[in-house]
Amino acid sequence: MVIEVTKGVYWVGVVDWAIKKFHGQELSTHRGSTYNAYLIVDEKTALVDTVWGPFQEQLIDNIREVVDPTKIDIVVANHAETDHSGSLPAVMRHSPNATVVVSQRGKESIEGHFHQPWDFKTVKTGDKINIGRNDLVFVEAPMLHWPDSMFTYLTGKNVLMPNDAFGQHYATAFRFNDQVNEEELYEEAIKYYANILTPFSSLVLKKIDEVLSLNLAVDIIAPSHGVIWRKDPLQIVKKYQEWAAQQPERSAVILYDTMWEGTRQMAEAIGQGLAASDVPYKMFHVAVSDRNDVITEVFKAKAIIAGSPTFNQGILPTISPIFEDLRGLKFQNKIGAAFGSYGWSGESVKIIEEHLNNSKIQLVVEGVRAKWQPKPDDLEKCQELGKKVAQAINA
Ligand code: FEO
Repeated sequence: MVIEVTKGVYWVGVVDWAIKKFHGQELSTHRGSTYNAYLIVDEKTALVDTVWGPFQEQLIDNIREVVDPTKIDIVVANHAETDHSGSLPAVMRHSPNATVVVSQRGKESIEGHFHQPWDFKTVKTGDKINIGRNDLVFVEAPMLHWPDSMFTYLTGKNVLMPNDAFGQHYATAFRFNDQVNEEELYEEAIKYYANILTPFSSLVLKKIDEVLSLNLAVDIIAPSHGVIWRKDPLQIVKKYQEWAAQQPERSAVILYDTMWEGTRQMAEAIGQGLAASDVPYKMFHVAVSDRNDVITEVFKAKAIIAGSPTFNQGILPTISPIFEDLRGLKFQNKIGAAFGSYGWSGESVKIIEEHLNNSKIQLVVEGVRAKWQPKPDDLEKCQELGKKVAQAINA
């Protein structure tokens, strides 16, 4: 169903309640998602972004509810990832006279994805296209979150369309932030930030400053996923500033994997040490936990305490992926420690410490190893480890 966002600006996107994994199988989307596309009807007609390819017919039908698709003059592709550009071929079949407006990197990427000789116009920050009474103004936003990413701003209506930034994977019955459950909305917004935008936090801060310095009035922030921020739209900008500063909570996460419960007992003893020091913690058996939900908790916490038994002179393969996330997401201001049981060679703790070091997570206490099932004094060492991490958190 088409929704009028503000006079002359229509949401023509798609709500995808069914999608539970995004980016192939990489990102969990427990609450589904939306692919938001915006149709602007002025003297000229502009479409800002499209939707994922499987929903192309729905997009065309939605556009047709407002205008004849052949009347579209401008198609802005803020970002080439195919959840937004996937329906470009269908749109361009229906709107053959349209110009595709992209950043320079967007042109490379869109051409690379679709191999089509469309009429491209490349824009850079500050460029404007007049569409009648109002202008489209473009702001390049490289690495938020791809090199090609771009924001589009509509003057007169004061609508910022920042594509992935400020989005959430959140399928809902209604399109606006004041119509949905705020707690759910922020759970999805922080999960999105933690899993997608964390490595670009310094750029997020700079880009927000740059956009604010343009003194553009912003009445509506209309991202490409999830709900549209119309009630106090700058609340999500302030949240992004807070998240991008990466000042963690006074808390810890314990991440472990286990074969015969020895490493699990150690994890629980570490938790007792943290709790005895009044530091809140969450504990995840990583092999059976959702990786992206775990990353969201890692993002919030100050300390990451990770454990695995030794397996084939290494760590359990079922805990390895989380270390790849820690490396790639480049969390800042974190401290950590390692632990694990072993039977024979016992390399796991050293390997985990190397992973934490490589992820710039500062080790604050020597790791604890327990041979075979942990004995009472091993568990006491684990409690001590928890207390020392707590001291470092409180320092
Ligand atoms: Fe929603 Fe980067 O695509």
